[in-house]
Amino acid sequence: MTKLYPTKNDLPESSRQVLIELLNARLAEGIDLTLQAKQAHWNVKGMSFFQLHELFDQVYEQAGEWVDLIAERTVQLGGVAEGVLKEVAARSELPAYSVELSGGRAHVDALSGTLAAFGRSVRASIESADRLQDADTADLLTEVSRGADKMLWLLEAHLQGE
Ligand SMILES: [Fe+2]
Repeated sequence: MTKLYPTKNDLPESSRQVLIELLNARLAEGIDLTLQAKQAHWNVKGMSFFQLHELFDQVYEQAGEWVDLIAERTVQLGGVAEGVLKEVAARSELPAYSVELSGGRAHVDALSGTLAAFGRSVRASIESADRLQDADTADLLTEVSRGADKMLWLLEAHLQGE
């Protein structure tokens, strides 16, 4: 067990240990998602280039806000937010992003797959936080998954209606 920083927060230390672990796992995935969104933003090509270029940057910006919320909650609970590349690479279980992609559909398909995987693991963590009676982490993660679902919609709409 990692040693926690002292806090007057009254959540039991045993609960905070588990919460910090799961928040660091979601932090790693959130950072992975930001990198994947920029990869798509930079490399997309095709007739829909400009709007996808902008949309992928919106995903990046939103994911950056989620990452900040998750990291700061980790620290508030007495933990250390482990957002360095080595930890992120070791922890993230999101699908790997291929550097070979170029067309809009391929990028939308890949990034929506990653967003969906992120949303799934955030939802699982909401349940864990509920079980640990941490309504605040559950609420924070609910905000994140609601945002991830919105971004997923904005991406998936490109793959529908054709
Ligand atoms: Fe840019």
